[in-house]
Amino acid sequence: MKQIVCLFLGVLLAVFPATGQNTVVAPEPIAAEVGIKILMQGGNAMDAAVAIGFALSVTYPQAGNIGGGGFAMVYRPGNEPVALDFRETAPSAAARNMYLDRNGNVIPGASTLSASSAGVPGTVRGFSELWRCYGHLPWKRLLIPAIHLAKEGYQISSYQHQAILSHFKKLSADTGSCRIFCPGGKALPVNILLHRPALAKTLKKIANHGAWEFYRGKTAGKFVKELKKKGGIITLSDLKNYRALWRTPVHIKFNGDDLYLMPLPSSGGIAIGEILGMLKNFNAAGLKANSVETIYLLAEIEKRAYADRNTYLGGPDSFPVFWQRLLMPAYLEKRAAGIRPNHATPSAGVFPGLGPVETSGLIIKESPQTTSYAVMDRKGNCVSVTYTLNGSFGNGILLEKTGILLNNEMDDFSAKPGTPNLYGLVGGIANAIAPGKRMLSSMTPAIVLRNGRFRMALGSPGGSTIITTVLQTYLNLSLFSMNAKEAVAAPRFHHQWLPNVINLEPQLYENKILTERLRKSGQRLQRVRKLGNAIIIFRPDNGKTEAAADPRGSGVTRIQ
Ligand code: DON
Repeated sequence: MKQIVCLFLGVLLAVFPATGQNTVVAPEPIAAEVGIKILMQGGNAMDAAVAIGFALSVTYPQAGNIGGGGFAMVYRPGNEPVALDFRETAPSAAARNMYLDRNGNVIPGASTLSASSAGVPGTVRGFSELWRCYGHLPWKRLLIPAIHLAKEGYQISSYQHQAILSHFKKLSADTGSCRIFCPGGKALPVNILLHRPALAKTLKKIANHGAWEFYRGKTAGKFVKELKKKGGIITLSDLKNYRALWRTPVHIKFNGDDLYLMPLPSSGGIAIGEILGMLKNFNAAGLKANSVETIYLLAEIEKRAYADRNTYLGGPDSFPVFWQRLLMPAYLEKRAAGIRPNHATPSAGVFPGLGPVETSGLIIKESPQTTSYAVMDRKGNCVSVTYTLNGSFGNGILLEKTGILLNNEMDDFSAKPGTPNLYGLVGGIANAIAPGKRMLSSMTPAIVLRNGRFRMALGSPGGSTIITTVLQTYLNLSLFSMNAKEAVAAPRFHHQWLPNVINLEPQLYENKILTERLRKSGQRLQRVRKLGNAIIIFRPDNGKTEAAADPRGSGVTRIQ
């Protein structure tokens, strides 16, 4: 009887979703305001996600972009979440050894700083697809705030100033970037108004002609011409052939929750699925946040999950990845059985669980600048987006005719499969470079439901640490009963198999008793300044929506 009542209530709630508040969490305040305004004008969460994304391409150039790519998880009440993949692809002229010299060694900077480090951008097609399927307001309206910001200017915050300073060398090496971000050889000072006229014109054309303009129109022509002069290899037909793809999320059940996570070409969903699947074999309910036992156990589990991630995963459309095998309960039970209490397995003793795939192991060396944001509208529609240029300001090359900053996402491929790289890691064929292929990602925008109702939207930047940041933020809410603010602020740790070390944020690293006990159990430790920059929208049992931006970044929340 109880089940029938629950089912009836579930159906009722799905058909007549509760009206809540408009909620935005974004990496900087101007774009958050843009999102709230679009929602107040009657736009839905998908409209707002598009408008915020375009606004960030102006106000957060270290990661916000139209020259990069990313992923979105989209939820509409009463429906299963769906995943949108607008990851970049390798240009058709890309080749497996394109970043190697004659002796087969990786050419320093080739996959990060050269014009040929750019993959075919997916962002504009992705936003257009999100709007085409679910948008409510006219397309043009969603670009007006971004056009205005680019044309009339926006004030440089101290966070932005610091970001420019940190990447000064890369930005000043390119005439286009230098003119915008370091005029006169100095980083733009705080509070100055930055105008981006070329970008404003490009955005206006995209507003008028849609994604067509970026992939086939005049903008496409200008983009390819200027890129070619700088040594880039993206062609008009690469742009024309680019597609954003709807994919079925990885669905994981844990602690009464249904987690909907990013599938390949992101490794995020599979890796989190493996970690939670192994965790089920232990007394998870008895764990405490950031206790010695929790850090020890999760580090052991993470070593095993990342060994699999690095070995078996790659862009799904070019390489047969039988990832479902990695999530089978029997496989994960066996894998968890290798974990010994108080006696850490060194990474060299952790092997990918399904045996070798030709030469196994992939290079992880993702870099630190990406961004995540989430929007929920009054009707309960929710979108979580993570998108990026890969490195901060991508490869630092700004095409002056269009105002577009280029991504350096090609570096997410394994540049030298089969041979140890500079760090002694071995690259694998699953993530080798191939024309048209999508490079493996760690980006993990996530939606969590409980009993068919919205529970959380999560996301974070941080390269390979995205996976553990999203995981810990989720566990803080679900298992450790924190509220949203506590959950984003709590200190983090991270193990990625190679190198054999647990990265600990200062608050954990400076806890002598904790580190002594971890070391005694055989774990190696390293202090890191910070891990990730998470965002949360959370609806706890009391139904009152909470939102939180990570104190590690410049993010803000708006609830209205
Ligand atoms: O797709 C990836 O996993 C990386 N390109 C993301 C880079 C990133 O998160 C850098 N952020 N802080």
